[in-house]
Amino acid sequence: MKVLITQKLPFDIENYLKDFEIDYRKEHTPIPYEELLERVRGCDGLICMLSDKIDKNLFDNAPNLKVVANYAVGYNNIDVEYATKKGVVVCNTPDVLTETTAELGFALMISLARRVVEADKFTREGKFEGWTPNLFLGTDLYKKTVGIFGFGRIGQAFARCCKGFEMEIIYHSRNQYFQSELLLGAKYVSFEELITNSDFLVIAAPLNDDNYHKFDLDVFKKMKRTAFIINIGRGPIIKEDDLVVALENGYIKGAGLDVYEFEPKIDEKLFDKNNVILLPHIGSASEETRAKMAKMCADAIISVLKNKEKPKYALN
Ligand code: DGY
Repeated sequence: MKVLITQKLPFDIENYLKDFEIDYRKEHTPIPYEELLERVRGCDGLICMLSDKIDKNLFDNAPNLKVVANYAVGYNNIDVEYATKKGVVVCNTPDVLTETTAELGFALMISLARRVVEADKFTREGKFEGWTPNLFLGTDLYKKTVGIFGFGRIGQAFARCCKGFEMEIIYHSRNQYFQSELLLGAKYVSFEELITNSDFLVIAAPLNDDNYHKFDLDVFKKMKRTAFIINIGRGPIIKEDDLVVALENGYIKGAGLDVYEFEPKIDEKLFDKNNVILLPHIGSASEETRAKMAKMCADAIISVLKNKEKPKYALN
């Protein structure tokens, strides 16, 4: 049984999968699509990254493929419906990265509020000439309203962080979570209420047909001019062109982004803005979590190819 792994993982996966023949591409850059097609052709299993496009063409090209384990919780890079038609099991890595990703979102929120990145740059540039009352005035999180768009595992973990800062928590999601509302003091609101009332608006949703470009110019115009937007979900939920216009016209106060509409391409107009923090999609990037994600992917391969059983986190 042959398994392709498309990038180097922070885990001794060769040893863990020693019963298999491994085609391990030990690189730290996304595999070009043509190379992926070529190398997956004779494989029974595939461990892929969120940057790998796993489409109809790929499935048609890999007749032996039985399992695809996506090294991410989001799986909008995979045509799961077609995989199902082809009898290929698709798995992802939920749960283990929940807190890690929420923490990064929180880091973005607090850094934006207190202008941490800007102030660090200023200090390194030798511009600090002594304490003064107006230097880098930011805004408090305490008692502010945080609006969470997408209240799944990550959205709820984010809310848990906010609770410690006594923030007012509102959310909008496909489902209403009554128990979490009680535990976290969170309140379900309409999308309109979410965008008009939030001081900090955090996107923690997976990408789907309903939320593609959900945050466009019309939405930004309705938000508070003092509001910040943070995206730890998926880039195309925000129309990036419109975000630039919103920032340039002061419709919102700032943005913290970990994901982008045309990843890894980023609208260059975002680069020179002090009220924007840009991260290179590192939501789940802690040593512990990335190792756990790799083990989960390997376990999915073992379940399907060796134990002939349904993996714990099968999506189809
Ligand atoms: C995921 O797993 O989908 C995250 O975006 C990774 O950081």
